[in-house]
Amino acid sequence: MVTTSTSTALDHTNLDWWRSSVTYQIYIRSFADADGDGMGDVNGIRSRIGYLAELGVDALWINPWYPSPQADAGYDVADYRDIEPEFGTLEDGRALVTEAHAAGIRVLLDIVPNHNSDEHVWFEAAVASPPGSPERARFHFRPGRGDNGELPPNDWVSEFGGSGWTRLDQPDGEWYLHLFDVKQPDLNWDNPEVRAEFLDVLRFWFDAGVDGFRIDVAHGLLKASGLPDLGEAAKPRLGQPPIPGHPHWDQPGVPDLYRAWRELADSYDPPRVFVAEAWVSSVQRLAEYLRPENLHTAFDFHTTRCHWDFEELRSAISASMAAHRVVGAPVTWVLSNHDIDRHVTRYGRGPTAHPLHGRPEDPVDIPLGTRRARAAILLELALPGAVYLYQGEELGLPQVDDIPEDRLADPVWERSGHTRRGRDGCRVPIPWTRSGPSFGFGDGEPWLPQPSNWSELSVEAEEGDHASMLWLYRDALRVRHQLPELHGDEFTWLEGNDKVIAFTRGDGFACVVNFDSQPIELPEGAVLLSSVALENGALPTDAAAWITLA
Ligand code: GLC
Repeated sequence: MVTTSTSTALDHTNLDWWRSSVTYQIYIRSFADADGDGMGDVNGIRSRIGYLAELGVDALWINPWYPSPQADAGYDVADYRDIEPEFGTLEDGRALVTEAHAAGIRVLLDIVPNHNSDEHVWFEAAVASPPGSPERARFHFRPGRGDNGELPPNDWVSEFGGSGWTRLDQPDGEWYLHLFDVKQPDLNWDNPEVRAEFLDVLRFWFDAGVDGFRIDVAHGLLKASGLPDLGEAAKPRLGQPPIPGHPHWDQPGVPDLYRAWRELADSYDPPRVFVAEAWVSSVQRLAEYLRPENLHTAFDFHTTRCHWDFEELRSAISASMAAHRVVGAPVTWVLSNHDIDRHVTRYGRGPTAHPLHGRPEDPVDIPLGTRRARAAILLELALPGAVYLYQGEELGLPQVDDIPEDRLADPVWERSGHTRRGRDGCRVPIPWTRSGPSFGFGDGEPWLPQPSNWSELSVEAEEGDHASMLWLYRDALRVRHQLPELHGDEFTWLEGNDKVIAFTRGDGFACVVNFDSQPIELPEGAVLLSSVALENGALPTDAAAWITLA
């Protein structure tokens, strides 16, 4: 594999790049399909590096690309040291890292430490070995309750619905824990062998020049000893923070587990970085993961969870910044990802809809959501900290709520007994061209169908229209790169109108977002960028502006 010394375009002198970087999330199945099998792939990503460089992102995060039965779209990993043949080869992966680096873009992968696949050699060995064996000790195997062990060991549930336990079809009849799909057995992080294995996996990819990792379910690794019942808390809470004291989410020792990961990352030149997916009960708790000796960054889902509401957003931003400041970590802002409804749709729903997972029957106003999404990205990119973009948000793609049931692929659909449609609606393949098969995604039938009216949301259409979402993103990223004020920590709220979020960064820059029903006057200065045209110099409702102060 390549080493980073072969790359030329990255600035290795800036060791703090991750504190204010903009990272683009690539959902590999749906980004670009180079080989025409209907599924995105590594070579598809390679073919679009020019697009990503032009967009102006600093890094990519690629969802799991490892060999996998794809029971949960790759989050069921069968081999952590290879690439799924459907996505490409290790050679292709090497080439991608080299080419991204040459374009000045870093590459983060996705590590899945909480569970692997039931087709991983470890789990196959565990099934073939007796209770009490070292092979079973890598997982959570337990005898069942009831006279004949016919009841699960406790009341834990799968995030996707149903029991969190499955019984082996064997004379010993032990059960194994899976907090997600039945094909995703949870690993036992009290076992030193498990800890050593993941350090070695990290080393494998770091040696390959990969710049860091997003950590999947980073808050889940330890389980309360004795695996006590949940009791009242025994309900699926996908997208909700776990309650404090929960027996399998965010156990007290989890943040410190990552010290060994940090030491390893720091031993590389240049050091490698981490971003955690940690759904925890408070921003204070999140900050525990971000102590200097633990991880670098973690997604701030507390703001993601806000409706388009002045008070909710302002207080969440404030609380997140305050909690991160205590440990000296940057906040990592995120509007959308592959697990939640796209924010154009979320912001187009009413204030009583679930902030992350609406129901298809919730009324939605897409033009309104789009207008707010334009304001939201200017707000997000003006805040101090790091930002993650989810592929397609730069095109203003909405959630697809009408995928035919027989095409739904998310295990949530089956495991919830067809009561929750799951997350496919935010995972629909990207439209690259106005016309042609799958709007230029690839030559094959895409793994999820695209809406027939996505022509004008395609990259091709938006490139030709300076008023498009794509150009707003490109312009905002360009300005963000150019303005030194947007890279440091300086931040001051501007007080004034109650229904406005406004702040300065340093002496010379202000961001104003108007949630009021009337247009508002802007501070004195030159408008650098606005999410919609100003009205006689005033900022309309649901709009944002960036200003160089006079
Ligand atoms: C994370 C992933 C999600 C996956 C789950 C289980 O939440 O983002 O897509 O289903 O973990 O790995």
